[in-house]
Amino acid sequence: MCGISGAVGLKNISELLFEGIRNLEYRGYDSCGVALINKSRLLIKKDIGGVEEFYRKHNVLQHKSKIGIAHTRWATHGKVTQENTHPFTSRDGNFAVVHNGIISNYRPLKAQLQKEGFKFSSETDTEVLAHLLEKFYKRSRNVEKAFLKMLNLIEGTYAIALISSYLPEQIFCAKKESPLMLGIGDEIKFVGSDFNAFIDHTKNAVILDDGEYAILSRDTYVVKDLLSKEEVTKPITKIEWDSETSKKGGYPHYMLKEIYEQPQTISNALDLEESGLDEIVDLFAESENSYLLGVGTTFYVAKYAKYVFSKLAQEFFPSISSDEFMALAIVNKESLFFCASQSGETFDTLSALKHAKLKGARTAAVVNVMGSSIARLVDKVVLQGSGPEICVISTKAALSQMVVLTVLAMKLALKKKVITRKIYNQHLQSLRELPEIIQGILNERSGFIHRLAHKYSGTRNWLYLGRGVYYPIALESALKMKEVAYVHAEGMPGGFLKHGTLAMIDDDVSSIVFVPPPEDKVLYEATMHSVEEIRARSGFVLGIHFTEQGKNSDLYSEELILPKVPPLTAPLIQLVIGQLFAYFTATSLKRNIDKPRSLAKSVTVA
Ligand code: G6P
Repeated sequence: MCGISGAVGLKNISELLFEGIRNLEYRGYDSCGVALINKSRLLIKKDIGGVEEFYRKHNVLQHKSKIGIAHTRWATHGKVTQENTHPFTSRDGNFAVVHNGIISNYRPLKAQLQKEGFKFSSETDTEVLAHLLEKFYKRSRNVEKAFLKMLNLIEGTYAIALISSYLPEQIFCAKKESPLMLGIGDEIKFVGSDFNAFIDHTKNAVILDDGEYAILSRDTYVVKDLLSKEEVTKPITKIEWDSETSKKGGYPHYMLKEIYEQPQTISNALDLEESGLDEIVDLFAESENSYLLGVGTTFYVAKYAKYVFSKLAQEFFPSISSDEFMALAIVNKESLFFCASQSGETFDTLSALKHAKLKGARTAAVVNVMGSSIARLVDKVVLQGSGPEICVISTKAALSQMVVLTVLAMKLALKKKVITRKIYNQHLQSLRELPEIIQGILNERSGFIHRLAHKYSGTRNWLYLGRGVYYPIALESALKMKEVAYVHAEGMPGGFLKHGTLAMIDDDVSSIVFVPPPEDKVLYEATMHSVEEIRARSGFVLGIHFTEQGKNSDLYSEELILPKVPPLTAPLIQLVIGQLFAYFTATSLKRNIDKPRSLAKSVTVA
């Protein structure tokens, strides 16, 4: 969802803003723009397209400035056009503003401003902000007062940053439900949608809360309460992430790099502080009803967890897509709301969390981004420690969350005495072997998966089938294929196939089947029925399985044989195959891997 980057200080700000919005491009990349101040005059450049192209085309780096704000957009109101690109300026050209979120009452505000003679050049909700600033400044001749007046009038969600030629050395910013933080450097201050906007320059961040606004200048910053206008003392959050991990490091795409980081991120997940996990297990054990939430990929993480809790701990915790939570869940003081979120900022999950809190529920989460809204709002948080995930498509964060949730389920099972300590230790050992097995697969199987994906890159319809815990793996793998390759892919429980979808099987529909290890006898046999059903109709089946004896061309049209692993980790290994297959299909189809069309990584609007 749109990215905001702003800076004020000694250096050449134009260059810093370039880095800032380029690092935030995963939040949106339809169009981008910057506002700088040169000799007390605002200079605005904006265009459709990506950051690098925009900077080159408009030669933005040649414009020197000591202050500026920039924006990279993911369109919500208004098409992707230059007119609808941020920053927006007031009619008199004295205010420039960038915004992430949705101003829900912009229509009446716009109508009123139009009546008063303000001309609008865009279809966006944001443009009202610039005109309101001009209007209120005229009355008070004070930028801060005009800013506050504007903030008091607008409704909806926002992260806003503005600069004004009246105060050419200060940035004003505020937030409500959309993320915004400050970066505190020596003789330079930043504002950004997240750490990536300034991580190369300072690791000291101040995370703004709703109802606060901030004023930044080269040497100082102040955070104030919107209602009382009193100064608020904010703690400095030290960013633990290394800026090097945010770089592509020789990989052609972040997606591939992040897939390859999984052995490490799984190890990180397994090394998390036990006490933090135990506290969450206590919450699961104490609560009368627990819900597992997420949306997009994290919904499939939650769905995976539903199977693992059921299988290991004999507990049925419904998994719900965050956007459906309010319509479905019955929550009270005895409930536990548990969500997974990579960014910790996703609107649907955040709204569900707020709803659960309002009802008095206990809350917990596994989140990748420290200091994010969800991480700060829940009673207990597990920071999974996967490091920055830049590609819009989630890989390492999701797999690591699955590992964390498996450990939570094991711990709950142990606490409930459903499993013995011996079994627990065996499971833990299986998980500990996972990084090395995945490393082996990445080293030895990537070439084969690449060739396979290339050979079938012309396939227009894929059915991904899995039974039991392999069903969420099928769903997530199909989502990867849709997101990155724009190829129709549908995840389905194997048993569901015969209830309608089988009619689709012909030359235009190919299937991928996630086959469990044969030791998982019931699931294995049930899955093989699905394979037989498709083969009986001469359908194409790519079998992803663990059995050498499965090397049998009448069974599968193509097969990928994986090393023998315990049933506990088998689905997690198969997910890596799903990720690689989608990645290589997308590279064959020459897709925009790290920034697929129409998507954004962190969806902070309804
Ligand atoms: C968006 C992204 C998905 C992501 C989902 C949840 O839809 O495009 O890739 O899975 O948000 O994001 P979260 O940050 O909450 O895990």
